[in-house]
Amino acid sequence: MLSKKTGVYFPKNIGSEVVIMEKTIKIGMFGAWRGNSYIRSIAHRDPDEIRLVAICDKQADKLARVEDVDNVEFFPDFDSFLEYGLKTGMNAVFLANYFHQHAEYAIRAMEAGMDVVSECTSAATLKGCVDLVRCVERTGRKYIIAENYPFSTKNLEMKRIADSGALGTFLYAEGEYNHSGPIEMLQELTPYKYHWRAWMPRTYYVTHAMGPLMYITNSMPKYVSARAAHSNLLEKIRDFRPNDDGIGRMFCEMDNGMIASFTGCTAMASRSRYRICGDIASIEWNGYGDTQGKVRLFYEDYTKPESVVECENYLEPDLDYWGEKAKEAINAGHGGGDFWIVQNMVDCFAHGKPVFFDVYKGVAMSATGILGWRSALNHGENFKIPDFSEEEERKLVENDDLTPFPDDQGEGATLPPSLMYGHYGEQ
Ligand SMILES: NC(=O)c1ccc[n+]([C@@H]2O[C@H](COP(=O)([O-])OP(=O)(O)OC[C@H]3O[C@@H](n4cnc5c(N)ncnc54)[C@H](O)[C@@H]3O)[C@@H](O)[C@H]2O)c1
Repeated sequence: MLSKKTGVYFPKNIGSEVVIMEKTIKIGMFGAWRGNSYIRSIAHRDPDEIRLVAICDKQADKLARVEDVDNVEFFPDFDSFLEYGLKTGMNAVFLANYFHQHAEYAIRAMEAGMDVVSECTSAATLKGCVDLVRCVERTGRKYIIAENYPFSTKNLEMKRIADSGALGTFLYAEGEYNHSGPIEMLQELTPYKYHWRAWMPRTYYVTHAMGPLMYITNSMPKYVSARAAHSNLLEKIRDFRPNDDGIGRMFCEMDNGMIASFTGCTAMASRSRYRICGDIASIEWNGYGDTQGKVRLFYEDYTKPESVVECENYLEPDLDYWGEKAKEAINAGHGGGDFWIVQNMVDCFAHGKPVFFDVYKGVAMSATGILGWRSALNHGENFKIPDFSEEEERKLVENDDLTPFPDDQGEGATLPPSLMYGHYGEQ
């Protein structure tokens, strides 16, 4: 059916399928800071569908903030958490631990026979990407990367329009993720000297800007080139955050022929935004003005279908398209995205349905951020992103463990965290 108002084709509703429950997900949460928001989401679900059974965090204050959970065991270390899980039938682990340590714990959980959902990023080194993919293939366990921004209500609306074919050929996609804040907030988020947030180069937190573009246009990255820019404002807090660039921007050839330009996590005086341009129409949203909750669909007057009235259309997200569950999602964290991550877990772990953000998408995004940083350090050098489904390509990077992240003693980092420590100022 073609809407007269917007010129967008509406395919059949795909979110209201009736499915038979195959198993109850008994999940353990590893990391109770970000993890606590998913603890609350899971508590609202049908316990026959998904049930929280254990929580692990080495910080007592994080465990103390967990409220309203019954029949859930608390652990200060991963070993005792996993051992308890093995004895009691825990069959999945949610990784909300430190950003750069997800792959190693994902592997331990999958080797123990559990499915894994991992906060972003999948892996912080190319070696970690290879180890993770091999583990998924070896164990046959299910793995999801919990990239939630593609499932925010407005990005789902972008996906709906893109899938309709209204844009024509995808030519260009753009994504920016901004997350800065006052010094007090940055201090709270960076609780100790060698915390990952202080050493993460700007390209590494790539999934929130890149993931929606991949999902909306159903594409994978092939090559990356990147640049970063130093921030004088951030330089003032270099004593607790040595990663004082304000932006790392990547430019990719995608496997559908489109080009994509996106950031990691930026600290710009700006808002997050997403845009997809085709040869017939374009769609976009940004965080400004009174059209904030809407998606802009734009045609040129010479590409506009006859049935469409206006070239410029501001669309309210069509929740009905995504089924009944979209109405439940609307109040969840990150524009509804957090709801769909839990739904992905139910669909994949309990019903065996494939998810978009599987291990191959996860490591492709991680590798883009990793190689993007090397490119930024080398004035935009172009890097091929390995196809991690191919063993020959994995072999080329299986020992590549370059990392900007130091250990708790400040040792082991082999890459600089910002331009100031890399090439910046050398010319
Ligand atoms: N998708 C999103 O919207 C979103 C939002 C916030 C954070 N995150 C991600 O969530 C992850 C966690 O971030 P965070 O904000 O909670 O900050 P964080 O990384 O500082 O917190 C991690 C928590 O895990 C615990 N932990 C880490 N290693 C442990 C170990 N070996 N044993 C026991 N406990 C351990 C820490 O004590 C801490 O409470 C990161 O990967 C981050 O990127 C995602």
